[in-house]
Amino acid sequence: MMLKNVVFLAAAVAAQTSMAPTNSTTAAVPTSTVFDEGVPTDQPIAGDYSGVWRPQVHFSPPTEFMNDPNGMFVDANGTYHLYYQYNPTATVAGNQHWGHATSTDLYHWQNQKIAIFATENSQIFSGSAVIDVNNTSGFFPNQDNGVVAIYTLNTPYAQVQEIAWSIDGGYTFEKYSGNPVLELSPNSTQFRDPKVVWYEDHWVMVIAYSQEFVIGVFTSPDLKEWTHASNFSHHGLLGLQYECPNLVQMPVEGGDPMWVLTISINPGAPLGGSITEYFPGTFNGTHFTAVDAAARLGDFSKDNYAGQFFYGIPPTEEQIYIGWASNWEYSQVVPTGQSEGWRSAMTVPRRTKLANVTRVGWNMMDQPYDLSPILDSPLATNDSLGNGSIFIDYSSLDSKAIYFQCNVSSIPNGTYSMGTLNFTFSSSQTQESVSGGFFFGGDNPFWMNRGKVLGFGETNPFFTDKFSVGNPINANGTFVLEGIIDRSILEVFLDQGRAVGTMTFFPEGVLDTMVLKTAGLNEGVVVSVAVWGLKSAWAEYENEEGIVMGNVTSASNSTQAMRRNLGARLY
Ligand SMILES: *[C@@H]1O[C@H](CO)[C@@H](O)[C@H](O)[C@H]1NC(C)=O
Ligand SMILES: *[C@@H]1O[C@H](CO)[C@@H](O)[C@H](O)[C@H]1NC(C)=O
Ligand SMILES: *[C@@H]1O[C@H](CO)[C@@H](O)[C@H](O)[C@H]1NC(C)=O
Ligand SMILES: *[C@@H]1O[C@H](CO)[C@@H](O)[C@H](O)[C@H]1NC(C)=O
Ligand SMILES: *[C@@H]1O[C@H](CO)[C@@H](O)[C@H](O)[C@H]1NC(C)=O
Ligand SMILES: *[C@@H]1O[C@H](CO)[C@@H](O)[C@H](O)[C@H]1NC(C)=O
Ligand SMILES: *[C@@H]1O[C@H](CO)[C@@H](O)[C@H](O)[C@H]1NC(C)=O
Ligand SMILES: *[C@@H]1O[C@H](CO)[C@@H](O)[C@H](O)[C@H]1NC(C)=O
Ligand SMILES: *[C@@H]1O[C@H](CO)[C@@H](O)[C@H](O)[C@H]1NC(C)=O
Ligand SMILES: *[C@@H]1O[C@H](CO)[C@@H](O)[C@H](O)[C@H]1NC(C)=O
Ligand SMILES: *[C@@H]1O[C@H](CO)[C@@H](O)[C@H](O)[C@H]1NC(C)=O
Ligand SMILES: *[C@@H]1O[C@H](CO)[C@@H](O)[C@H](O)[C@H]1NC(C)=O
Repeated sequence: MMLKNVVFLAAAVAAQTSMAPTNSTTAAVPTSTVFDEGVPTDQPIAGDYSGVWRPQVHFSPPTEFMNDPNGMFVDANGTYHLYYQYNPTATVAGNQHWGHATSTDLYHWQNQKIAIFATENSQIFSGSAVIDVNNTSGFFPNQDNGVVAIYTLNTPYAQVQEIAWSIDGGYTFEKYSGNPVLELSPNSTQFRDPKVVWYEDHWVMVIAYSQEFVIGVFTSPDLKEWTHASNFSHHGLLGLQYECPNLVQMPVEGGDPMWVLTISINPGAPLGGSITEYFPGTFNGTHFTAVDAAARLGDFSKDNYAGQFFYGIPPTEEQIYIGWASNWEYSQVVPTGQSEGWRSAMTVPRRTKLANVTRVGWNMMDQPYDLSPILDSPLATNDSLGNGSIFIDYSSLDSKAIYFQCNVSSIPNGTYSMGTLNFTFSSSQTQESVSGGFFFGGDNPFWMNRGKVLGFGETNPFFTDKFSVGNPINANGTFVLEGIIDRSILEVFLDQGRAVGTMTFFPEGVLDTMVLKTAGLNEGVVVSVAVWGLKSAWAEYENEEGIVMGNVTSASNSTQAMRRNLGARLY
């Protein structure tokens, strides 16, 4: 959650209060800490997920503005909880709450009521959540499924860390009366995004002193008293701020689990705006030490920031990651805001581990989490494409969401390998396209291009349109490309996800045609391609009016609530 939002906040709150019949800075707020006119506290906000840019297999908020994923944890029943930075009253950042959704398969998301509310003078910025199975906090007599959220409270004067506890599994939170649990002296406006994990016999928090380029490590026996333990500072790319650190233990191919520290930086990413870097290393309960001095990037494109790993997954299992699929350089002006009333989606969930497979030693490998719940029928398969092409008209696929996989093998060693593989998704109506491809030779670059879409970008200097990464061919002569395209987002995963590219785009026409071509490949190279349609995860939740209501538990009329809410939207 960036500093700049404080500026937007002033604008959003000013706009907000100007809508109220009275001067709301002086008006009494009766029985609730909630000051948002029309934002429901007892039920989810309803959303229209049918827009031409609405992702169908990705999470996006019911309405208005979303940024960082927050508080991600999986409970004992296998329900994944995703909270997120949410402004329910405008399609720009500012009035930050914790939105909430749950899922058992990480693709079908049930929208829940807002979990933690901003107040008139302070916003609930990013943070994390844990399950206090042993009642270390004392909040949870007679239960082992109490949830504690740890977040940054933002005011114009300070960023301090607070906790809130939930006895109902993470749906409803109560703010701790002893807040804040961690503040600097003197207070800082650049101290945020606590991520807490359990280490053997104590809690560990990593948190960003953003503009000092320090990740602080704090420890606690009870989530209430925090002690400074160490600093990890000035590592990797600095950009202009450190944000949203994660400390996570994950499996290593052919070895014991290892710790990874991720740091998101914004602004100042090498490609502009926002990016996440990661450091494999060791952690002993108080100190993190990186294996080397290298900065490794989580993505080679521009739309993957502030990601988190779910709390509650054993270190021997692949960890599950979700990132914010946008970039602060343009997230608040992309055209979904004006035409469809929402901004920003999350990446697909990714299962992650470490492997030593390239000359850089350590790579985080990210692959789409089990897609079977949303896989539709195959649109095309070909086990021996060789030098050839595949053409698919998917105009009759309602979701317009596709998963594709290309397995290339028997590639001769680097000196001799030749040829190209590339793919294009285009609109039969406007001829716009999004494309990508790989060169089997030279530096083995993989590229993506969003420059041939008309809906956004031509006039925005930050919405750069081409991205690439060097991806050496494996010693065993293989190359694997996986991709997911979902209306306004494309994610590619190279070679079990050791390189990942996440790219949003906003075409005027509907993309409905896929072409995949290979040319110039060495004789004997085997190309196997499979393309599947994906089922919309949201369509299943739509009511007769086409609206996704979420987990409505109260008797009140939510369609009405939604209209009220849409009516109150601020651009
Ligand atoms: C609203 O109240 C504040 C605080 O009393 C005051 O500074 C401001 O001028 C008032 N604005 C309007 C529009 O009355
Ligand atoms: C798991 O489900 C059971 C039965 O529905 C419920 O009683 C329990 O509270 C749930 N546990 C968690 C951690 O949500
Ligand atoms: C809970 O207590 C058990 C038994 O002492 C311990 O092994 C475990 O690490 C503790 N876990 C948490 C999250 O408190
Ligand atoms: C949880 O902690 C509180 C405060 O220490 C205590 O009153 C309560 O008995 C504890 N409950 C359990 C089940 O340990
Ligand atoms: C720091 O800011 C918090 C929140 O605004 C406030 O409660 C606290 O008193 C401040 N502390 C100091 C030392 O100014
Ligand atoms: C953790 O590592 C730090 C730095 O190497 C060291 O000072 C500290 O004693 C270690 N703690 C434990 C418990 O080993
Ligand atoms: C990675 O593997 C190579 C051999 O393939 C080995 O030389 C190198 O030491 C390994 N790196 C690490 C960090 O284990
Ligand atoms: C690379 O492949 C070529 C052609 O198959 C072969 O002649 C050469 O020995 C190979 N080089 C290595 C280092 O394997
Ligand atoms: C080829 O090597 C890569 C990198 O080590 C590995 O991930 C992949 O599984 C191997 N493929 C086959 C078919 O052995
Ligand atoms: C894509 O591949 C085809 C066939 O090899 C080739 O004609 C075309 O130039 C390639 N496009 C790009 C942008 O590389
Ligand atoms: C709906 O929300 C309630 C809490 O408000 C929760 O107990 C219940 O599990 C939720 N149901 C679903 C299907 O998400
Ligand atoms: C809910 O409100 C909508 C819009 O005002 C109305 O059309 C619908 O009949 C209402 N439904 C119920 C169950 O009251």
